[in-house]
Amino acid sequence: MAVPENDRFLRALRRQPTDRTPIWIMRQAGRYLPEYRELREKAGSFLNLCRTPEYACEAALQPMRRYPLDAAIVFSDILTIPDAMGLGLGFSEGAGPHFERPVRSAADIKALGVPDPHQELRYVNEAVSLLSREIGGRVPVIGFAGSPWTLATYMVEGRSRSDFGHIIELLRSEPGQLDDLLSILADSVALYLEAQINAGATVVMIFDSWGGILDGEDYVRFSLQPVKRIMEKLGPVVPRIIFARGGGGQLTEVSETGCEAIGLDETVNLRAAREEVGQTCALQGNLDPALLCEDEEDLRAAARALMENYGPYPGHIFNLGHGITPDIDPDQLACLIDEVHRFSAVSA
Ligand code: CP3
Repeated sequence: MAVPENDRFLRALRRQPTDRTPIWIMRQAGRYLPEYRELREKAGSFLNLCRTPEYACEAALQPMRRYPLDAAIVFSDILTIPDAMGLGLGFSEGAGPHFERPVRSAADIKALGVPDPHQELRYVNEAVSLLSREIGGRVPVIGFAGSPWTLATYMVEGRSRSDFGHIIELLRSEPGQLDDLLSILADSVALYLEAQINAGATVVMIFDSWGGILDGEDYVRFSLQPVKRIMEKLGPVVPRIIFARGGGGQLTEVSETGCEAIGLDETVNLRAAREEVGQTCALQGNLDPALLCEDEEDLRAAARALMENYGPYPGHIFNLGHGITPDIDPDQLACLIDEVHRFSAVSA
């Protein structure tokens, strides 16, 4: 694979020294950008935007035109897999995603098949190839999927912002059935990521957004084990990142999934995380997204404090602890990126 012109992100993922700290932002394509809102209007809906490769490619390119970001991320959603399984995905304004046919019984689980990434999910591969072609090797392209556990929470609950009552009930009463569901999802995610890599993704990331509602042995069995299985199936063909939201208390176990990097939420102390797993994994994160609302000087100071706390070691990729929110002024993001590049160049 050709080395991208800007390979800071790949070097940091390998824990090699870089000229500046690389930065990209979760949800860098999204509603805080007026050009995204316009594109979504044109597409008619978020799902139509995702399903039309030309639109999806355009959405991913928008932040790249505005900012000197060190990576592009494919524009899609983690819920494409359950959608391809036939659960009937919808997005309602204000309430987030929901499924018409949630998974609630052993029969529902048995009926699920592994989607063929070249059939039902073909539009995602097309978006990845288009984006890779347009990026033309300037920066790495990140492909992604949800973790089996996080996908299962949406599939079983049927909607976002639930209290997780159904999935916790399944975990307590029928853990074997939950294992079956997670195993189908692990196979689906592995095939899906493999297809994205073949279509041009040079890094892949698994979003485990809801692993944090579990802890101890449950977290290892239901959230991390299926991720480990995906890592084993993929092998280290490209660098692999796991966003371990809420997993800060078990970072050693997260690092044992075999990933090259761990994405951290804003509750984790970056220095403590580096001391715990920094010899085995690179770390991505973890500025509190709320700090983007502060005035420019406070935002810049917060970015510097985060980098100083990490210390003068390779293996840090700057990002937020969670996705950028729609209320953010796009100029604030320009400031943040500028400060990360400026300060890390001075202190390199
Ligand atoms: O980062 C990027 O720029 C790439 C695109 C991306 C989206 N979703 C686009 C999106 C990525 C990487 C995701 C991942 C995703 N999707 C996650 C994991 C990360 C996380 O946030 O924890 C999850 C849990 C989802 C499921 C999902 N999709 C939810 C809960 C929502 C509603 C959230 C909201 O803010 O309303 C979505 C919708 C969604 N996915 C939007 C975007 C740009 C907003 C859609 C719109 O109204 O235009």
